[in-house]
Order: sequence, then C-alpha cells, then structure tokens
Amino acid sequence: MKILITGASGFLGGYLVQAAQGRGELIGTFWEHPMPMPGVELHRMDLTDLVALAQFVRKVQPQIIIHTAALANLDACEAQKDLAWRSNVDATRMMAAVAHQLGCRLVHISTDMVFDGKRGNYSEDDTPEPISYYGYSKRMAEEDVLHAYPDALVVRVALLYGFPVSGGNSFSTELFKQLRAGNRIKVFVDQFRCPIWAGNAAAAVVELATKSIRGVLHLAGSERLSRAEFARELARQMDADSQLLEEVSMQAVEWLVPRPKDVSLNITRVRQVLQTPLLDCRNGIKQMLAMAPQNRTSN
Ligand SMILES: NC(=O)c1ccc[n+]([C@@H]2O[C@H](COP(=O)([O-])OP(=O)(O)OC[C@H]3O[C@@H](n4cnc5c(N)ncnc54)[C@H](OP(=O)(O)O)[C@@H]3O)[C@@H](O)[C@H]2O)c1
Repeated sequence: MKILITGASGFLGGYLVQAAQGRGELIGTFWEHPMPMPGVELHRMDLTDLVALAQFVRKVQPQIIIHTAALANLDACEAQKDLAWRSNVDATRMMAAVAHQLGCRLVHISTDMVFDGKRGNYSEDDTPEPISYYGYSKRMAEEDVLHAYPDALVVRVALLYGFPVSGGNSFSTELFKQLRAGNRIKVFVDQFRCPIWAGNAAAAVVELATKSIRGVLHLAGSERLSRAEFARELARQMDADSQLLEEVSMQAVEWLVPRPKDVSLNITRVRQVLQTPLLDCRNGIKQMLAMAPQNRTSN
C-alpha cells in the first residue's frame, strides 16, 4: 500500500511519517526544507503549481493521501492572502479532485482555528466562523474537499505540541527553551485550547486514514486548558521554576491577527471510532519530554 503524506517536512508531517512507518510504502513531500527521513521516498512538491501537483499525485498512485501541507502560519496567511488561498484552498481542492478520480482514501488536515472562539467546546455540528485569514482559508478548503470528494475525511486538529522530528516548530519548544534557560516568559491565562501532543495526533490520524469514515471529525487532547495551565504543567514536569511564567491576558498583546479566546474541541465523536487513546496534558507532556534534547526531565 502506498501512503502519500504531503508536508512530510513540517511539524505534524514528521510525526505522521513516524506513525505511518511499517504501514506501507511511504511517499512524503517537502517544499523549502528537504528533510531526509529513513524509510520515506521524498519529493519536492509545490502546492501552488496545480498542474504539477495533479501530475505528481497521479504518478504516485497512492492508496492513501494524508494532506497536511499548508501555509500554516497565522501571520504569514494574513500578510500573504493570495499565497494562503492558493496553498490552502486551491491546492486542497485539486488534491481532493485527483484523490476522487483515483478512488484513493483522502484525509485532509484542518484546524480548530476555523472557529471564532467565543464559546468553546465546539462539536462537528457547530458552524465555523473563522476570525483570521488562516482560519478562513482552512474553512474554505474543508468545504471544497467535501464538495469535490464526499467520501474524504476532514480532521480538525487542535493546537499541537512537542519537539519537531523533521521540520516545523511549536509554541511548546520555545516555552521549553525559555524555562530551561531560566528566562521569564509570558503565558496567557485567557486563551483556551485542547492541546494535543503531535505524536498522539499523528497516531490517531494514521488510524483514521485506515478507516472508511467520511465528513468532519475533531481531534484534540482530552483537556481544555489555558496556555498558562499548559505552561505550568510543562514547568512542573521539567522541574523548572514556575515563577518564570508571567501570567498575562491576551489583551496585553497587540496582535497583527486576532487570536480566538476559546477554540476547545469536543472529541466525543472521534473517541467513538478511535482505538488510539487521546492523552491528557499530563501524559502528553510526559511523552513530549521523553524526546527532549539532552533529556533532563522528571515526573
Ligand atoms: N501546528 C499546529 O498546532 C496545528 C494545529 C492544527 C492544525 N494544523 C494543521 O496541520 C497542518 C500542518 O501544520 P504544521 O504545524 O505541521 O505546519 P508546518 O510545520 O509549517 O509545515 C507545513 C508543511 O507544508 C509544506 N508547505 C508549505 N507551503 C508549501 C508549498 N507552497 N508547497 C508545498 N508544500 C508546502 C511545508 O514544506 P517545507 O517546510 O518543506 O517548505 C511543510 O512540510 C496544516 O494543515 C495546519 O493547518 C496545525
């Protein structure tokens, strides 16, 4: 079985490659960051070249596509709306059309940022109302995928944490570095998510790719936490000084792009179909720290 993972050089993509090892022949794509990974045939692919993208996928003839490549940076999407649209919407629509033609399984990765964050605990039946261009482009891509290929699965993933295994980055790496260096760092008390360890998310996505579920599913860690609560648990498990965490309101920061207050996801539905357990923050951070550079952790 051939499994195509787009964006294998990215943060989630690296974990997806690890999670899919042994499940079949792995083909991964990168754009600007070639990241050699054992057991993966890597190809350069440009999301914005739709003709080449379609040709590439037809040539690979995968049985499963996990489409994670995207312009995934909030500020970059706002600053380069045209690029965001072409990378996140046009390319995804093309990917869905080709997957449909080939009759292969398509799992498209979306985000909790499709919601406005006014309420939290969003289920799959809630109406997305994104407040950023990134969220808007990802929402439009969701609609286009399911329109072009109703059997596809859209997985809305919550905020990811962990150390990068190939490329990309996460807020948690910076938090870890600052705590380990003994530097003060601001953390928000009023921004809520259900963060999920990237290794856990990848295992769940790979499991979902082998099932025939269609439509939209939410995938998140099992707890709703503020950024400050997450940071406190990380500091605790690192034996770092929690006094380094300066707890502030989101309103203390002037954002280029507004951040939603509470995009926590309800995971009742995905739990009914998954065997992979969705970890709480304590256990997710434990897994994360087991992969820390020069591991100096305690539980
Ligand atoms: N990180 C999170 O917390 C989070 C949460 C929810 C959902 N998601 C979703 O998860 C997916 C992956 O996010 P991530 O955090 O792993 O992002 P990332 O680290 O920035 O990785 C993005 C990937 O997309 C590729 N890419 C970007 N522009 C491209 C282009 N023009 N042509 C071809 N490939 C291109 C990158 O390739 P190069 O690096 O080689 O250029 C990289 O492999 C995205 O769909 C995102 O919306 C992420």
